[in-house]
Amino acid sequence: SPVAAVIPAAGRGVRLGPGIPKALRTLGGTPMLVHAVRAMAASRAVSLVIVVAPPDGTAEVKSILDAHALPGGSPGGGWGRTDVLVVPGGETRQESVRLGLDALPPGYEIVLVHDAARPLVPVDIVDAVVEAVRDGAAAVVPALPLADTVKQVEPAPVAGRPEPVVATPDRSRLRAVQTPQGFDRATLIRAHETITDDVTDDASMVERLGERVVTVPGHEEAFKVTRPLDLILAEAVLARRRL
Ligand code: CTP
Ligand code: MG
Repeated sequence: SPVAAVIPAAGRGVRLGPGIPKALRTLGGTPMLVHAVRAMAASRAVSLVIVVAPPDGTAEVKSILDAHALPGGSPGGGWGRTDVLVVPGGETRQESVRLGLDALPPGYEIVLVHDAARPLVPVDIVDAVVEAVRDGAAAVVPALPLADTVKQVEPAPVAGRPEPVVATPDRSRLRAVQTPQGFDRATLIRAHETITDDVTDDASMVERLGERVVTVPGHEEAFKVTRPLDLILAEAVLARRRL
């Protein structure tokens, strides 16, 4: 079955600081979103990419993508074997993903959801996620062990004051999860129809349905560009790749 990838790219990037929407900020001179689309199109399995653009920026995103596609229509031109659609997003990541899923044509039984903010994910990770879904998992997340110990805290009694620590979960059983996350289409759509609470990743919605979610090994270079320091790291990773 062919694979589609939904790329939520409608966020502002508040934590990165003021400026244009995060997905349009450049890395090595190329918008992060273009890197993310290329990363999905690099997988032989992925034949459709649905980009979810800022609601007021759909036309701009389309023209940026056109400007970075290879000249000449498919095959070989555009994004190779991969078609790219652009749809407007929503107020939250969850809403943006749902709007992307609304544009999913019939026939795609495996769906990836990949943050535009993870522009440097290696294609091996994309392929490993697809393979795990093909092997029968309803939901697959790339995951890495944590470097830092994690504390659970109570909210500070007064904002800005020290927060009481209430627990230290066993680090060896914690994982930081990345994207692309991969899903059986029906499971992901049911999750988005059923779960309305605010969540930060799609797999947690599937967990809430009581369905099994599994991990595959993630990759350091699939980190999310969130804060200004992440941009510096991303530029360095890209420069090293171009050596
Ligand atoms: N996203 C989206 N629609 C939203 C909010 C976020 O499509 N309404 C996307 C972002 O564009 C990003 C991904 O979800 O690719 C992960 O979100 P995050 O890293 O939090 O990006 P932003 O929400 O843009 O950043 P911030 O939270 O700092 O504002
Ligand atoms: Mg956000």
